[in-house]
Amino acid sequence: MLNFKKSAADAVFSALSRMGVSPLPPAEELSAMLEYPPDKSMGDLAFPCFKLSRLMRKAPPVIAASLMEELGSVDGFSRIAAAGGYLNFFIEEKAFADAQLDAILTAGEDYGRSHDGDGKTMVIDYSSPNVAKPFHIGHLGTTVIGHSLKSLYAFSGWHCIGINHLGDWGTQFGKLIVAYRNWGSREAVEAGGIDELVALYVRFHKEAEEDPSLNDLARSEFTKLEHHDEENLRLWKWFIQISIAEYEKTYAQLGITFDHYTGESFYTDLMPAQVERLRERGLLKLDDGASIVDLSDYNMPPCLILKRDGSTLYPTRDIAAAVYRKQTYHFDKCIYVTSNQQILHFRQWFKVLELMGYDWYDELVHIPYGTVSINGEKLATRTGNVVLLRDLFRMAIEKVGRIMEEKNPGLENKEEVAEAVGVGAVVFYYLTNSRIKDSDFNLEDALSFEGNTGPYAQYTYARCCSIVEKAGALPAKEDASGYLPCEAENALIKTLSLFPEIISDAIRDSEPMVITRYILDICAGFNRFYHDCPILSAEDGAARAFRIRLTEAAKITLGNAFPLICLKRTPKI
Ligand code: ARG
Repeated sequence: MLNFKKSAADAVFSALSRMGVSPLPPAEELSAMLEYPPDKSMGDLAFPCFKLSRLMRKAPPVIAASLMEELGSVDGFSRIAAAGGYLNFFIEEKAFADAQLDAILTAGEDYGRSHDGDGKTMVIDYSSPNVAKPFHIGHLGTTVIGHSLKSLYAFSGWHCIGINHLGDWGTQFGKLIVAYRNWGSREAVEAGGIDELVALYVRFHKEAEEDPSLNDLARSEFTKLEHHDEENLRLWKWFIQISIAEYEKTYAQLGITFDHYTGESFYTDLMPAQVERLRERGLLKLDDGASIVDLSDYNMPPCLILKRDGSTLYPTRDIAAAVYRKQTYHFDKCIYVTSNQQILHFRQWFKVLELMGYDWYDELVHIPYGTVSINGEKLATRTGNVVLLRDLFRMAIEKVGRIMEEKNPGLENKEEVAEAVGVGAVVFYYLTNSRIKDSDFNLEDALSFEGNTGPYAQYTYARCCSIVEKAGALPAKEDASGYLPCEAENALIKTLSLFPEIISDAIRDSEPMVITRYILDICAGFNRFYHDCPILSAEDGAARAFRIRLTEAAKITLGNAFPLICLKRTPKI
């Protein structure tokens, strides 16, 4: 729709200029004012005249009427009518359909891609689990929202760098080392992987309740690790390796790769310089032996920099990491995706960075998301109320497998398809809701494939693929000439034409849900068209050609939208 918006805005711009309006709002501003009317009888685009009323000292309906007069006819529009304070534009449907279809088919894989971010770099810190802890559905948010944002930015021309800021440093490693030495074995860890590490960690907490001296022991093992004790370093590295190997299985199912696994420990040697800078600028205050930055002037609790024993804290590592990233990648934007429980943490250390005189502090953006509960209950690692992502995916994949066995037993690559659809179902379910709202993960709904679900979207995509494949070569534009599209066809084309705008909306709001819902709109539009209009069996040659082209356009748009929300393309289901 972008071109039509542009022509309407340009026409309004020249009309206003002929009318002698000054200062004249720029055409881009006018274009942004254009709305999509809720009802077709009000046209396809509406220009509200209310904002011009002060400038022109006239009532909006008067402005609308005189603008209409001045505009006359505009290319691409069949009618322009004033109604109240609005000027309604009716698109000339046939011209629109032809132009739009042509644009989508020509662009193909690039349909929706823009150059808005050309020459700009963004760093995105997401997923970032704490090593040796289970990867559960609480991590689904940061992982899929983060990857979705990265994909959206990349599709808009940005150079993107994905960083997994693993929680790989802290006293929990002292605990794990003690637990491993007391109750673990190399064989058990090799066989059990991360599950065994989790079991050791849980055992440590149980035993420490009886024998609190274990906590002191854990602290001293961590101190040894901080001082590069060889044996502890070796164990620590091994624990991390085992954890990453496990995470990567989940990432592969989601189609996610990271550019860097630079965890918190990576910044150890870079912290002293930042602490020094804080000190030089007189920002550090002693508080009961600990070093803090007082933020009371900004209505925030103090930011903790060093513990009483001189060891660093989570914010200290984030400050050092941000400086490192700026120096290394020269980003224009650095995004952090975490649950909303960390909003204060990010506000605090962003402020500290500003006080330290880093003038790029405003290039850092925290994108929070709502907390997740399961079946109405809070997640709690301690009581065991967690669902591992791995298990959830497995359940979904098994369910898809059973359905496929029934419906399409001859399908090739059955396992691959079952994985794409099962994992897709869970991700789609999650990304259907607004990121910022707390969400309840209802296991039954997440694994339901009825209605507006991932499997429905992937199935619609497969249906498009199969029609286009059966049709053979794609008919040329000329083969469809003279055909006048019907209601369902025009509606689908309009929906497809919104893709570029939908992408900018999703980026503007950092909201993958915009894409998920848009995919559902396309599916609804396509399925309505599919039921209303015979495609391959159409008797009229021009109608058949037009419909095959339209099906291909729907396939392209869905196929380009899927990876933007970690959904895999499924040409065959
Ligand atoms: N490891 C942290 C957690 O699990 C998330 C890290 C987010 N990134 C950051 N740079 N602080 O809560």
